[in-house]
Amino acid sequence: MAIGVFDSGVGGLTVHRELTRRFPRRDFIYLADQANAPYGGRGGEDIVDLTRAGCERLFEAGASVIVLACNTASAIALRRLQQTWVPEAQARHGRPVNVLGIIVPTIEAATGLPWTFEAERHSEKIEAIDVTGVFCTAATAMSRVYEIEIDKRREDLAVFSEPCPGLAGLIELGAPAEELKVVVDDHVDALRRRIGRHPDKAILGCTHYEIVADLFAAALPPGTTVIHQPTAVADALERYFLRHPDYDLGSSGGREFLTTGKPGPQSDLVAQFWGEPLTFNPA
Ligand code: DGL
Repeated sequence: MAIGVFDSGVGGLTVHRELTRRFPRRDFIYLADQANAPYGGRGGEDIVDLTRAGCERLFEAGASVIVLACNTASAIALRRLQQTWVPEAQARHGRPVNVLGIIVPTIEAATGLPWTFEAERHSEKIEAIDVTGVFCTAATAMSRVYEIEIDKRREDLAVFSEPCPGLAGLIELGAPAEELKVVVDDHVDALRRRIGRHPDKAILGCTHYEIVADLFAAALPPGTTVIHQPTAVADALERYFLRHPDYDLGSSGGREFLTTGKPGPQSDLVAQFWGEPLTFNPA
C-alpha cells in the first residue's frame, strides 16, 4: 500500500517532492492526468469526474491516502468526493482509504490558525489590514475558496486572487523560462495595479507555479512573504498520520510515476526542478 499523489499534470510533483523528503520510507504512487490537463479552465462537473477517475485509478494501484496536489481539484471536487464517494470506495476496496486536499493546510499556513478556528466577529475598528495575493487557476479563483475561508478566520487579512489562465498549461508544455517570466511578471503587475500596491503575502495557489517559484520571487518585492504549499501540506500530513495510524502506507520506499497522457521523460524544466530526469509510465 502507498500514499497517492494526484494532479492534472506535473505541478503536483512540487508537493510530491516535499512529501517524499518528509516520509522517505513510505511508498508513493504519483498520477498525472496529463491527457486532460489543464483543469483550470474546465467546468465543475468535469473537474469532479476527472478527479474521481484519477483517485479510483490510484486506489486500484494500491494507494490508501490520496493527496490532491492540485488546488483546482481540491477547491472544486474534494468535498463532493469525501461526502459522496470515499465511503463507497472504502467499502469496495475493503481497507481504510481517504482523499485529502491542499487548501486546508495552505489556509492554516496563511492565517497561522488551525482549520477548526472560526473567528468571532467584533465591531471594533481593525487597525491594519494585511493583503494576501493568491496566484491561481481560473477555476480556483472563481470558487473564491481562499477569500471565503480566510475571511472566516482573520478579519484583518484582505485576499485578492489573480487568475493566471494559461500558466499551468505553459509549464505543462515545457515552455522556456523566458516565456514563463513574461507571463509571471504580467500577473504580478496586474495584481499590484488592482490592489494599489504589492501584497504582504503571496500564495502560489496552483501547484504548477512552485516549479517557477523563483520567477514569482523575482517579480515580487523582497518584503512579500511567499507561502509555499509543499511545506504546508507536508506539515499537515505529518499531523494527520499521527492522528490516523490506521492507514497502510507501505514501508519499502517505493516510487511509481503514472500518467494518463504520453508516457516517457518529462520536460527539461521539470527535470531541472526535480533534480534529475523523470520518466512517467502509462497509468
Ligand atoms: N496544478 C493544479 C492546481 O493546483 C492544476 C492546474 C491546471 O490543471 O490547470 O490548480
